[in-house]
Amino acid sequence: FRAWRGLIEEYRDRLPVSATTPVVTLLEGGTPLVPARRVSEITGCDVHLKVEGLNPTGSFKDRGMTLAISKAVEEGAQAVICASTGNTSASAAAYAVRAGLTCAVLVPRGKIAMGKLAQALVHGAKLLQVEGSFDDCLEMTRKLAETYPIALVNSVNPHRLQGQKTAAFEIVDALGDAPDVHCIPVGNAGNISAYWMGYKEYAEDGVATKRPRMLGFQASGAAPIVGGSPVTHPQTIATAIRIGNPASWRLAEAARDESGGDIQAVTDRQIAAAYKLLAQEEGVFVELASAASVAGLLQAHEQGLLTAGQRVVCTVTGNGLKDPDWAISGAPAPVTIPTDAYAAAAALGLA
Ligand code: F0G
Repeated sequence: FRAWRGLIEEYRDRLPVSATTPVVTLLEGGTPLVPARRVSEITGCDVHLKVEGLNPTGSFKDRGMTLAISKAVEEGAQAVICASTGNTSASAAAYAVRAGLTCAVLVPRGKIAMGKLAQALVHGAKLLQVEGSFDDCLEMTRKLAETYPIALVNSVNPHRLQGQKTAAFEIVDALGDAPDVHCIPVGNAGNISAYWMGYKEYAEDGVATKRPRMLGFQASGAAPIVGGSPVTHPQTIATAIRIGNPASWRLAEAARDESGGDIQAVTDRQIAAAYKLLAQEEGVFVELASAASVAGLLQAHEQGLLTAGQRVVCTVTGNGLKDPDWAISGAPAPVTIPTDAYAAAAALGLA
């Protein structure tokens, strides 16, 4: 047994760090690749879930943030800023604490899950709720980073994608080769681009013998890449991917085209169904946006895009605990009983 050292140490020779880069880490990465029995049964494929909600702040953003914050410190930054649908801000806030930096975040007011808001606040970030969309927040953030001495840690910062590509390395390291198909939610489109970088790098260096087809999934009310033009008023229950003009649009298209993959839309109804399936049949609690990868896999299966026996990995990007409101609103109300074992037995249908 050797303890996991965080992804910068684990993949140091494949990342833009030197011996003098200060490593800011919460020991992110090394997340489980969980076999998905029920989804495998339905699709006839060998499906695994890359459970990114088990990163330190509960989402894949920590992979990008360990590198972005380490590089910001190396470059002498005193403060960082990001726009966010919630997870990036939670991660930036935590890693900024670790590094002793000030952290500012801009989020669309009323459109981020409660757990994510709690994280930014508890880590002491300067949080501004903007009366606008994520896309508005990102535009404002870019202007601020150009004008003031504050480092941008959104995924337009190339260090973010470098960190996030390590998830693809871990998958190949765990499976012994790349999967045939990789399914992933698409919001600002950084993560699909990062995975593709990682898979390409491992294939070029002979660590993997192949590269997967990348299947990306946007919510149908927020599917600019699918539709081919920006969406001014994106709408979806999956607030994490409620994005109308993704920053890494071109990179995501390149990942799609170079891999022979596709970027498709899934409806909120499909996302909610996959969320429930993961929770109730796989025992894996993810947030709504994360379920888009599995909703998409089921859709691809129905379209006949998959071959039986293919190995498939779905990234589930964030932890279900991020959004307790959604979880509770969709479940039956709990029954209240007096302090009485017989009442409990009756309520449980035992007596
Ligand atoms: N899933 C979750 C849980 C996310 O938080 C995000 C993005 C995505 C998927 C999409 O990843 O943007 O790389 O295509 N969240 C960003 C944020 C926008 O601010 O937390 P992407």
